Amino acid sequence: MTAIKKVVRMKIFIDSADIDEIKKAFEWGICDGVTTNPSLIKKAAAKHNISDMKEYITKILQTAKGTPVSLEVTEISYEGMLRQAKKLFSMFNPVANNVYIKIPVNPAFKDEDNTHFDGIRVIRELSKENIPVNCTLIFTPEQAMLAAKAGAKFVSPFAGRIDDSIRDNAEIEYKKDDYFPAEGWEAEEGGMLDDNGIVSGIDLVGQCTDIIQQYGYETEVLAASLRNTRQVRESALIGADIATLPFGVIKQMLKHFKTYEGMDKFTKDIVPEYAELAK
Ligand code: E4P
Repeated sequence: MTAIKKVVRMKIFIDSADIDEIKKAFEWGICDGVTTNPSLIKKAAAKHNISDMKEYITKILQTAKGTPVSLEVTEISYEGMLRQAKKLFSMFNPVANNVYIKIPVNPAFKDEDNTHFDGIRVIRELSKENIPVNCTLIFTPEQAMLAAKAGAKFVSPFAGRIDDSIRDNAEIEYKKDDYFPAEGWEAEEGGMLDDNGIVSGIDLVGQCTDIIQQYGYETEVLAASLRNTRQVRESALIGADIATLPFGVIKQMLKHFKTYEGMDKFTKDIVPEYAELAK
């Protein structure tokens, strides 16, 4: 993995629609934005028993204090996505001027050949109208390249889901948050397990980043579907602009048993004369 020198630090977004989690992440002062998707909204709706979705989303936007909040469309046709994107943007952007519209790179189902470019067309159209787009469900650098070319502000490669797919194809058992080596997994028959030349989720993030930077697209790579802290570290090392993290992963980033052990020892060793100094 080659580290890329950058002049800006990697931003950390929270990948959640749970207002309690979002509030905490912003209170801690380490959060630079929020990503949501229909599954996260479903989870939050069940937990908070949301009766007024407009009011709930408004609260998220206010809590995010002017940092980007991605809201995903649920329509899948060109016309439907465009109409919904514009409606979401005009309804919510005035709240805190921080709405990004999440558009799937290819909202078609497998066999619907005519509509494969509808996502890209919508991204192009919204970008022309200065509505910022986060292009989601990216699984190849080529998808990222087309989304960047169409004007997406963010492209979201889904690291964890590529790792899932590589493991599924090789019939490897795993838990959702299990680490998958960034440099890939050796296949029993030799060579590396891969998905069309992508050997891991982090490799996907890295290849997207290389292409976007090499050609100077004004698009940021948002590493998504990260399930453990090593993937966060590796996203930073490989040069991702943003990592969006579940609340649990953000909390996990500070934990180490030697830190706890050190705290125990230092606390036991405190002499009153020293402690008194700054009382
Ligand atoms: C990104 O924007 C997505 O909401 C998210 O990262 C998906 O993560 P998952 O694959 O763990 O569901």
